[in-house]
Amino acid sequence: MKKRVAILISGRGSNMTALIESAKAVDYPAEIVLVVSNRPDAPGLARARALGVATAVVDHTAFADEREAFERALDDELRNNRIDLVCLAGFMRLLTPWFVARWSGRMLNIHPSLLPQFKGLHTHRRALEAGVKRHGATVHFVEPEMDSGPIVAQGSLAVEDGDTEQTLAARVLELEHQIYPRALRAVAEGRTKF
Ligand code: GRF
Repeated sequence: MKKRVAILISGRGSNMTALIESAKAVDYPAEIVLVVSNRPDAPGLARARALGVATAVVDHTAFADEREAFERALDDELRNNRIDLVCLAGFMRLLTPWFVARWSGRMLNIHPSLLPQFKGLHTHRRALEAGVKRHGATVHFVEPEMDSGPIVAQGSLAVEDGDTEQTLAARVLELEHQIYPRALRAVAEGRTKF
């Protein structure tokens, strides 16, 4: 039985696309059955539909400052679709300990740095400023603290002379598209558990 996976997005959804395409392989242990966005205008929604995946919007602005009410609506959407695993892919909302606990060990995130380095935003700029020789991306289980949690997969590359924030971001994004499908495969096969 393939694991039923939902991907949560807020934007363009290139990692989402990589996951959907990888999951088309007959021997892939997971199927992407739902894409949920907290933003009705996320370009990734149309991409998901074009790839034949059902979409839903849970608009956080409809819940004013009620973060938990937003998350209850999100959780209902996931449970109604009998979701086994959740992949955050450019999902730009911080999640409360309640939601994280509910999906503990069943929710992954991808972050564009070699964690624990450069948690938070603007990771490529900060990597250049710090002068690191290697940079990359990390897939990890989600814990309440942002960009923390057991690491499932990392991909790294050399920072080159003349790299800009944009060139580095583009190369790291390609790496992201390779490691996220591999990480989801490992978790769906039960080879990595927390
Ligand atoms: C990626 O860089 C991901 O690592 C970060 O947000 C970005 C999302 O890009 N969490 P996309 O929507 O998958 O193209």
